[in-house]
Amino acid sequence: MKRLNPKAWQTAQRLEIAWWQSYLSRQNPASYRAWKLVYWQNILKEIECFLPQNAKRVLDAGCGPSGIFISLQDKEVTAVDPLIKHYNQSSLLNFNNYPYVRFEACPFENFDTREPFPIVFAMNAINHFRDIEASIRKLIQCTAAGGLLVISVDAHRYSLFKYLLRWIKIDRMHPWQYNAPEYKTMFQQKGVELKYESMLKKGLVFNHRLMVFAKNRK
Ligand SMILES: C[S@@+](CC[C@H](N)C(=O)[O-])C[C@H]1O[C@@H](n2cnc3c(N)ncnc32)[C@H](O)[C@@H]1O
Repeated sequence: MKRLNPKAWQTAQRLEIAWWQSYLSRQNPASYRAWKLVYWQNILKEIECFLPQNAKRVLDAGCGPSGIFISLQDKEVTAVDPLIKHYNQSSLLNFNNYPYVRFEACPFENFDTREPFPIVFAMNAINHFRDIEASIRKLIQCTAAGGLLVISVDAHRYSLFKYLLRWIKIDRMHPWQYNAPEYKTMFQQKGVELKYESMLKKGLVFNHRLMVFAKNRK
């Protein structure tokens, strides 16, 4: 059973708000956005050869205040995050700066779309979601046949820390604790093919991994 009790997820979301508040007290939001824009541009360059040509519609699931949507001004973006209104009320985000984005304030588990997207991103988000298995199924459902699903995630480097953090639950902002092969398997078992992966950042306990999956044409 890979669904959190609602209280654990609400606690994680409260900690997420507190984290942004504390981060902002030490950072200038404009410099953070400028840094993040370059970060996204580099990732887009890295996966350029996989991105479907001429694709217009993009989904950014768990978008946060400066998600990959900030670098997609030539697309029609749908960006989903339960805290998005909160971010918009702070200095972190101003909806008016992103007229090409439709923001949806809901957990991704509740998101509904009539038409799947040729490109779907869930960057640094799936280990925050409430129901990881259902969210992964939904990410795949939301990807059009022949489309691309791109994720990044903190993946454990050592089994010892993985089991320790699952057991003592001190990393409450990240309800899910897995290593890279486990994340990959969760996607591959649900019918998408891994096309590319890389390490975005090496850490002591976690590596931040990029994974690009393709959904077959039917
Ligand atoms: C670490 S932030 C990453 C934000 C952004 N993708 C980025 O890389 O800058 C994780 C985000 O996931 C969002 N989140 C948590 N649970 C979610 C859920 N069930 N559905 C959608 N987003 C969720 C949080 O509100 C938070 O904004």
